[in-house]
Amino acid sequence: MIHSKKIILVVGARPNFMKVAPILQELVKYPEAFQPLLIHTGQHYDADMSDIFFQDLELPKPDRFLGIGSGSHAEQTAKVMIAFEEVCIEERPDLVVVVGDVNSTMACAIAAKKLCIPVAHVEAGLRSRDWTMPEEINRVVTDAISDLLFTPSRDANENLLREGIPLERIHFVGNVMIDSLLSQISKTENRGTLRRFGVKAGNYAILTLHRPSNVDNPDVFMGIFNVMIDLSQELPIIWPVHPRSRKMLEQLGLEHHIKNNQELRLVEPIGYLDMLTLNRRARLIITDSGGLQEEATVLGVPCITLRENTERPVTVEAGANRVVGNSPDRIRAAVLSILNGNSNRITIPELWDGKAAMRIVEVLLHLNSWS
Ligand code: UD1
Repeated sequence: MIHSKKIILVVGARPNFMKVAPILQELVKYPEAFQPLLIHTGQHYDADMSDIFFQDLELPKPDRFLGIGSGSHAEQTAKVMIAFEEVCIEERPDLVVVVGDVNSTMACAIAAKKLCIPVAHVEAGLRSRDWTMPEEINRVVTDAISDLLFTPSRDANENLLREGIPLERIHFVGNVMIDSLLSQISKTENRGTLRRFGVKAGNYAILTLHRPSNVDNPDVFMGIFNVMIDLSQELPIIWPVHPRSRKMLEQLGLEHHIKNNQELRLVEPIGYLDMLTLNRRARLIITDSGGLQEEATVLGVPCITLRENTERPVTVEAGANRVVGNSPDRIRAAVLSILNGNSNRITIPELWDGKAAMRIVEVLLHLNSWS
């Protein structure tokens, strides 16, 4: 009898949950072939950064929670590696699947690979070519040591081939995050989310900020903050505040200022379904997140990205995304241009069709060698 393959799926931080959920749901359809285990490193641990995503995405409780928490990059990465190595030694999985580009992704890939356990990277091949981004280092290192590389777009395949990754390891499967979006979107009807946030469909913007390049430097942060106060006179802006931004708001004493401004609305981090509802009905999305650029594209909502580059150029080619950096003048001009009706026609990127996880599992079902 052939034994089912033990597959560890790793989640660590908020953007991982919606990528792993569809893969896990697909794997459990083949109990004779796969025995999946869900490991949460605990990089994100607040209820509104983690637990709510398990509920909204109907993810089962993790088989193990490593409780790593926050720390410097080296500290966090090292702690994940130490704890995850133990898990691998005890569980002896046939494959470790990591997703995205957070510190937990790279740490678990390294720990597994050094134990000669095969690693699969989902969302492989994305490149910003910006080495000041910790995620770029995580992406390049993870891809270099992965045995299976599942890519969301054709540019990712090209990046990997250029870096010398053998063609047979690369599988263009589409975007797993969009699997979650499409499978959950019907739940956004009748949630009452817009009423709860006091906004009307098509008449507000969503803002998210958490990149160190935007929120850790007081001058840059103040510049963005002031332009948002201005723009909120044009239309209400809902701003779910990431803990990293919260720290800077507190440090600069800006919270009081915001409380007096009705139209720039600071709220706690928002769960998956409420955020999907708000994104779907927004007039525009202003963000420095990677995933939100993709969600905006599929939802057909114009997106302004407050970064100098993007590892997701396909969202720009699709007509949804404008990458404008963090200078207040450029941000203001881009927002006003959209409010004046200058938006492109938006097309959906190839294979962002809700079936990426199915394609991944198809590849795993037909793998000849697991070593
Ligand atoms: C991490 C990822 C980033 C991803 C983002 C989504 C890395 C290098 N970065 O950045 O790619 O886009 O998650 O949110 O992995 N904190 C809390 N509660 C939590 C988690 C964090 O208060 O549940 C605070 C801590 O003070 C911590 C800070 O947020 O120091 C940053 O958390 P961390 O996981 O280091 O990085 P993020 O900025 O969230």
